[in-house]
Amino acid sequence: IVSDLQGMTQGKLHLATVTTCKYFVPRLLGNFCDQYPGIDISLKITNHLQLEKRMMENRDDLYILSHPPQHIDLKVQPVIKNPLVVVAPPSHPLVGQKNIDISALNNQRFIMREPGSGTRHAVQALFNKHKVNVEIKLELGSNEAIKQAIAGGLGISVLSRHSLNGREYTDLAILDVEHFPIEQQWSVAYLSGKHLSVVAETFLHYLVSVTDHAEMPWMHFK
Ligand code: PGA
Repeated sequence: IVSDLQGMTQGKLHLATVTTCKYFVPRLLGNFCDQYPGIDISLKITNHLQLEKRMMENRDDLYILSHPPQHIDLKVQPVIKNPLVVVAPPSHPLVGQKNIDISALNNQRFIMREPGSGTRHAVQALFNKHKVNVEIKLELGSNEAIKQAIAGGLGISVLSRHSLNGREYTDLAILDVEHFPIEQQWSVAYLSGKHLSVVAETFLHYLVSVTDHAEMPWMHFK
């Protein structure tokens, strides 16, 4: 009976997530679509500010992001941790050091996400708090491009640990800097006044159940 019901759940799911989620949400979709072959998905991946705009225009069923905006009336459910770590090229002098004082980041060449990025916001808040001044060499809207720029020796950056895909890299290293990782958490959210479709409800339940207590979901969805 369950599989009959699953087969009958039909329609389109409109999802929108911040860029850092691209490392886990698409991985979950294969399994979901196997279970619910009648559901098609549109997935928009953009930054925090653009997601806020989409919320205000009621463009999607569900949103996944780290800091759901306070000024929009949302129903929010935390799903999974999103730690932000300092990433450097392996040749960087701070690689291998333990408990690096955050002041060691002063004047480091830095690659920063674009304005409107939630990652940038979190990094700047921490740097402001500890009066850290980095030298922003490059602003980039793509986590993937930032990884390449780090590997190419342009500077260091702060990225979601998920962007490293849980793999060991030979051209990237994580620095052990105090106050890092910045402990963030992704939440799934939707507009409070919105009547969720059966399709959206189905995905919401699926997401919450598969990510329950999971720190790195790819470990469970290889
Ligand atoms: P973003 O993601 O930097 O792509 O805006 C931030 C977040 O995790 O909410």
